[in-house]
Amino acid sequence: MIVCRSKGEIDRMREAGRLVSEVLTELAAHVAPGVSTGDLDALAERRILQAGATPAFKGYHGYPAAICASINDEIIHGIPSGRRLLQEGDIVSIDVGASLDGYFGDSAVTLPVGQVSEKAATLLRVTEEALIKAIERVRPGGRVSDIGHTVQQHVESYGFSVVREFVGHGIGQRMHEEPQVPNYGEPGRGPRLSQGMVLAIEPMVNAGKPAVKVLADGWTAVTRDGSLSAHFEHTVAVTAGEPWILTAREVPAAVRH
Ligand code: MF3
Ligand code: CO
Repeated sequence: MIVCRSKGEIDRMREAGRLVSEVLTELAAHVAPGVSTGDLDALAERRILQAGATPAFKGYHGYPAAICASINDEIIHGIPSGRRLLQEGDIVSIDVGASLDGYFGDSAVTLPVGQVSEKAATLLRVTEEALIKAIERVRPGGRVSDIGHTVQQHVESYGFSVVREFVGHGIGQRMHEEPQVPNYGEPGRGPRLSQGMVLAIEPMVNAGKPAVKVLADGWTAVTRDGSLSAHFEHTVAVTAGEPWILTAREVPAAVRH
C-alpha cells in the first residue's frame, strides 16, 4: 500500500528533511584530504542526537553507523571508519537518514575531495542533474517509472550506467515504504503518482558498467569493474503543483564545499 500524507504530515517530514539537509551541509564543509569517514560519522550522529532525532541507519538490519560514506568505486553503504582517510582526488558519497517526531528524511550527495579528474567531475554533475530532472517529473498523474526512465536517459546519454540492484523508495513513518523507485525502465508504468506521496529518489550511477558486488563486510556495494560511482538522493513530496524537495539544502552542499 502506498500512503498519501496530509499537509500536516508533510510539514513534519520537512522538519526531518531539513535536519538531514543541515547535517549534509555541515559534513560537506568538513570534507577534505586527511579527514576520516569515521570523523564524518561521529559529527553526523552528534548533530542528529542534539536535534532530538534518531539516526535512521544505525541498527537498521544491523548497520553499524549513522551515515554511509562510499569512496570512489564504492556505490553505496560504505561503513565509516576512523582508519579510512579521504585523499585528494577522491569522490565520496555521503548518505544521511534521520527520524524526527516519527517521520523520516533520507538524502545523499557525492562530493569531490580537493581537485578531482574531469571524468569524476562530470560523473558528479550528470548524476545530480539526473536527480533534478527526475524530480521535475514528480507530478500528480505521472507514473513511478517516469522517474527511472528520466534518470536512465540522462545518464546513458553520457555513456555512464545506472545501477539496477538498488532502488529508491517511498518514505514516511518508516525509512523504506512502498513503492520501489528504480532508476531505469520504460516510462508510463507502475503506480500513478498522487498528491501526498513521498519518495526518496536516489540515482546510483557508474562511470563504467552497471554491475555491482557486495564486499565481505556484507554492506559495501562496489562497481564490479572498479569504475567510479556517484549517488545523489532527495526525499520529495508530490503536491498539486511543483514537487517539494523536503531535503533541499539552503546552501547546496556542493557549492558551499
Ligand atoms: N539511503 C539509503 C537507503 O535508502 C541508506 C540505507 S543504509 C542502511 O536506503 F544501512 F540503513 F541500510
Ligand atoms: Co534512501
